[in-house]
Amino acid sequence: MKLALKKVDIVEVGPRDGFQNIKKFIPTEVKLQIIEGLIAAGIKKMEITSFVNPKAIAQMADASDITEAILASKYRNFQPIALVPNFVGAKKAYQLGIKEVTYVISISEAHNQANIRRTHEQSFAELKQIQDEFPGLTIRVDAATAFGCPFAGEVSDELILQYLDTVADLGVKEVILCDTIGVANPEQVARIARMVQERYRGIAFGLHLHDTRGLGLANTLAGLQAGMTTIEVAVGGLGGCPFAPGASGNTATEDLLNMLHGMKIETGIDMDKYMQVVELVKQHIQPILSSHMATICKPE
Ligand code: COA
Ligand code: ZN
Repeated sequence: MKLALKKVDIVEVGPRDGFQNIKKFIPTEVKLQIIEGLIAAGIKKMEITSFVNPKAIAQMADASDITEAILASKYRNFQPIALVPNFVGAKKAYQLGIKEVTYVISISEAHNQANIRRTHEQSFAELKQIQDEFPGLTIRVDAATAFGCPFAGEVSDELILQYLDTVADLGVKEVILCDTIGVANPEQVARIARMVQERYRGIAFGLHLHDTRGLGLANTLAGLQAGMTTIEVAVGGLGGCPFAPGASGNTATEDLLNMLHGMKIETGIDMDKYMQVVELVKQHIQPILSSHMATICKPE
């Protein structure tokens, strides 16, 4: 099997999706050390934190400190992204100097209510408000529960298209289809990837596929074969939405790197340097990780 594409754009979401699911507060210095290590390994785009209500996710209470520290370093060739669930979060991020945010709205309204406490109508209205208030801000949309919902079960094509029609009408240029609870299969990912790319020519699509049932890499490969080139993954396979019962880790960045580099597909990321960060995660955050590469690569 040969893939036509030569390069995959990896978006690291470990410091956001990964850390948010860890109960014990990770000291800000440790988070910064990991983020800096990921940048040094060659990560070009990363969700560094999220501006959410600290009562909802206490782990993200240092979002401003993280953002200020990373922006102060003035990295070249690196785009920090912050996840925001509402106008208040977008405003905080923008005022600190963030240029790109991930705005999350679940395709399943039941999950949007559990996660963001808003209806679709409210979430889309707030998106419009953010666009109007901060025209210089790049807004990518995380379409959570695109492949299945912990509350509503199956997510129909009709619902996906209805949601994307609204997103397209709002002029959003990038949408990430998220398998929040890791229920997708490769056939489904390929079919939906083709369907949305054909219908919405003005939107760049990416994938965010949790590895809950061990299908993370298989689903990613199916997405790549269907033309997707942006993939969100997390260091160590950390991750999960605290408001989605049964959610667990993301596809591990290092497992994806191993697959892509083996297939001679460029990522711009140095595997050895990346594995040093995985070691840091093991030492400071979680000794046993779900990632395969973390299990087989032992420190010297
Ligand atoms: N950042 C920090 N504080 C925020 C905030 C944000 N983005 N949005 C709201 N708040 C604060 C408000 O200022 C208010 O503070 P107060 O109690 O001191 O007055 C309080 O939170 C309640 O505001 P409200 O607008 O009523 O929010 P809510 O309680 O309905 O919560 C969300 C809505 C979206 C803010 C909350 O559910 C949330 O942060 N969810 C995070 C979901 C998430 O990160 N999921 C995983 C990633 S997909
Ligand atoms: Zn996720």
